[in-house]
Amino acid sequence: MNLNLEHYRAILTGRWITDLANTSAYLMEHMPDINWVGFYLWDGSQLVLGPFQGRVACTEISLQRGVCGHAALTKKSVKVDDVDQFPGHIVCDSRSRSEMVIPLIQNDKLLGVLDIDSASLSRFSAQELEICESMVQILLAVASQK
Ligand code: SME
Repeated sequence: MNLNLEHYRAILTGRWITDLANTSAYLMEHMPDINWVGFYLWDGSQLVLGPFQGRVACTEISLQRGVCGHAALTKKSVKVDDVDQFPGHIVCDSRSRSEMVIPLIQNDKLLGVLDIDSASLSRFSAQELEICESMVQILLAVASQK
């Protein structure tokens, strides 16, 4: 894995949509063997598709549905080694076999989720999840400074 938190910090601007777009691009470029990465943003009633890299995806997800909804509802990261074993998993890209979702929480408020999918089973390690959680913390810290 080639993620580097210092390099990642250096591409952030504090502009929300800009940084979400480049975060997706950074992950797609530096994380091997992923097929979809991007954000769903909380609009007050549901998660709505935000900046991403990958195939066209579903545009709205309720909190009661999918891995994204579960992470948003519980405000906790979810790592799924086999999406077929996750009840309610939403198929956006049928190639996806494993997935991790990290909630974006600021001052206890849900802003959205970061979703990363792979066409390989059990693609994501606990260490990668931690690094991606650190990226989300950096993203939120830079956004709050603006
Ligand atoms: N699989 C996700 C839906 C989003 S897409 O994978 C891009 C889920 O179950 O929430």
